[in-house]
Amino acid sequence: MGLRTHNVPQAFPYQGSKRRLAPVIIKYIPESARRLVEPFAGSAAVSVAAAFAGNVNEFWLNDAHRALMALWQRIIHDPDELAAAYMGLWQSQHGRERDFYNQVRSDFNTSQKPELLLFLLARCVKAAIRYNRRGEFNNSPDHRRKGMMPGTMKDSLRLVAEALGSETKLTSVDYKKVLAEATVTDFVFLDPPYQGVGGGRDNRYISGVDFDEFVCELESLKEREIPFAVSYDGRTGDKVHGHKLPDHLNLYHAEVLVGRSTQATLLGRSEETFESIYVSRHPDPTGMPGRQSVKGAREELLFA
Ligand SMILES: C[S@@+](CC[C@H](N)C(=O)[O-])C[C@H]1O[C@@H](n2cnc3c(N)ncnc32)[C@H](O)[C@@H]1O
Repeated sequence: MGLRTHNVPQAFPYQGSKRRLAPVIIKYIPESARRLVEPFAGSAAVSVAAAFAGNVNEFWLNDAHRALMALWQRIIHDPDELAAAYMGLWQSQHGRERDFYNQVRSDFNTSQKPELLLFLLARCVKAAIRYNRRGEFNNSPDHRRKGMMPGTMKDSLRLVAEALGSETKLTSVDYKKVLAEATVTDFVFLDPPYQGVGGGRDNRYISGVDFDEFVCELESLKEREIPFAVSYDGRTGDKVHGHKLPDHLNLYHAEVLVGRSTQATLLGRSEETFESIYVSRHPDPTGMPGRQSVKGAREELLFA
């Protein structure tokens, strides 16, 4: 099974992408699963990895951000035309990068066109989607790079579209609506927005996710015996980011090493960064791969 990430394409760069965690997460997909459901899809790194590894071949991607799902619609149904539009934009920026970026950003804020969002994600700082209070995309361009080369973009979009397939279900609703429709033959991967990012709650595109409500939703999945995995908290050294999920959910908890600070190592401190994965103890008579990775287990991730 594909444990490496470097040969799995990415549809678009995205802050918070679980691309590096994906090879570990897909090991927990039970054999009974027919469909992978991502209520907080973003760049859907886990679905893409599962599609390439062949774990499942049916997908449901959902994200509350409408423009992002419109971009997915184009990726799945018209990747070549989207790649051509990206190439047009990418080539037009030369010699006037800053002004061109600003123009694309302002056009996107009026038209919400998917190719403009793709260009912005490829060009902006940390591939981060940021909106101001008026609901306008306001992230700045990264001056050190020009965005993915059009040829690479075309190949990636086509490969991702082929791997996921045209039957992929795409929606843009609140995650709770997706969970209400999930069934026992699904595997749900939940990756809610990073908890440390407060503030922008009044944002018109991205709703906040309330912790207690989220826990109730997980209880409901558990009661309905729907297998799921959650990426929620993490830590660097002893510093924990975000809430831990409560014990009563009785989930497997694995920590995945995703980074090591060379700076801290030089100063004699251990600054390893781990991300947590929680997995439901779903009934699986065949036994899940990685089942021995119970509470507190550590998985070393292969660096691509
Ligand atoms: C951490 S990102 C997911 C990243 C994704 N796993 C990937 O690999 O790119 C969280 C996503 O949740 C979406 N989101 C925020 N609130 C939501 C809600 N209430 N319902 C559905 N999606 C939501 C955001 O738009 C964002 O794309």
